[in-house]
Amino acid sequence: MNPSVDRAITVPKFTFGGMNRVSSSRDDAGGKAVNVAVAAARLGAKTRCVGLNWKENGRLLTERLEQAGVETDFLWLDGAVRVNIKLVDGESGLVTEINSSGAKLTEAQVREAEELILRSARESEALVCTGSLPPGCPDDYYARVIGRAKAVGCLCALDAEGKKLAAGIDAKPFLVKPNQFELEGLAGRSLNGLGEIAAAAREIVSAGVEVAVVSMGAEGALAVTADEALFAPRLEIRAVNTVGAGDTMVAGMMTAFCSGADLGEALRTGTAAAAASCMTEGTQLLERETYEALRGKVELIKK
Ligand SMILES: Nc1ncnc2c1ncn2[C@@H]1O[C@H](COP(=O)(O)OP(=O)(O)OP(=O)(O)O)[C@@H](O)[C@H]1O
Ligand SMILES: [Mg+2]
Repeated sequence: MNPSVDRAITVPKFTFGGMNRVSSSRDDAGGKAVNVAVAAARLGAKTRCVGLNWKENGRLLTERLEQAGVETDFLWLDGAVRVNIKLVDGESGLVTEINSSGAKLTEAQVREAEELILRSARESEALVCTGSLPPGCPDDYYARVIGRAKAVGCLCALDAEGKKLAAGIDAKPFLVKPNQFELEGLAGRSLNGLGEIAAAAREIVSAGVEVAVVSMGAEGALAVTADEALFAPRLEIRAVNTVGAGDTMVAGMMTAFCSGADLGEALRTGTAAAAASCMTEGTQLLERETYEALRGKVELIKK
C-alpha cells in the first residue's frame, strides 16, 4: 500500500547549507510487499503484487517485479511514488535519510484498493499484508482485508508494526512476524531472553493467531504455535545487506506452508531464505542456489 523509490545519492563531501554536487545516484524500487513478492517468486511461488502505484514514476516498481517473474495488479493513481533519499557522504561514509510519507488517499481510493486486493485473494492460496500504510488509510485496514480474505479461504500473514499489528491480530491471521522491537511495542514491555520472547509470542497465539514468528536479527528466530515452540539460531554467514531479511523470512515461511510444510519445515525455509538474502547485495534479495545450500544447515531447537 505504501511503496517507495529508494534513492541513494553520494556526494564527495557533504556541505550543510552549501552547494553539493552528486557523484553518483541510484534509484531502486522499494517496499515490503515488493520484497515479499520478489523473494517468494525466487523460491518458486507463483506470486502477484497488489496495491497502489503512481503514474509518474511507478514503472520502476513494475520493472523490478516483472524481472523477478511477479505478476502485478495495481490501482494506478495520479502523481508520483514517494521518494526516500539516502544521502551518503563519500568522505565519512555517514548516511543521512530523508523519508516522505506520500500523498493522502481519499476514502474512495482506500475502498477501491481493498476490492482490488480481495479480487486477488479470491484466486490465491495465501495473502501477505505487509508494510506501512499511506496517509488516509486507517490503522485497521489490514484487519479489514484479513477478515475478508480469510472468509474466501486465504491463508493470511501480517507483517506490520504498531497499531496496524495490534489491530491486525484481532482479525486472527494465520501468521504474524514481528521482529523483537515490534513485539516489544505490542507487548508494551521490553523482552529479555528467549523465555520472555516466547511468552509474548504465546500471547499472540492465545489471541487466535496460528503461528507467531519472532525474528531477532542476527540472533535467529522463534516460531510459536499452540502446541510447539521452535528456535532457529541464525546461520553463520557473511552478511552484506540485511535489509529485507524479515520480508524474505515471511516469504519463505508462507511459500513453505502453501506447499504443506509443518512448522519446523517452514521455519527452516524462512531461516535459510532470510540468511541467503543477507548474503546478496541490492534488490535481488536471494539466489536460489545459496538458499538451497543453506537449507540443510538450519538447526531447530525445541523450546
Ligand atoms: N546477520 C545475520 N546473519 C544471519 N541471519 C540473519 C542476520 N540478520 C538477519 N538474519 C535472519 O533474518 C531473519 C529476519 O531478520 P530481522 O529480524 O532483522 O528481520 P526484520 O527486522 O523484520 O527485517 P526487515 O523488516 O528489514 O526485513 C532473522 O530471524 C535471521 O534468521
Ligand atoms: Mg520486518
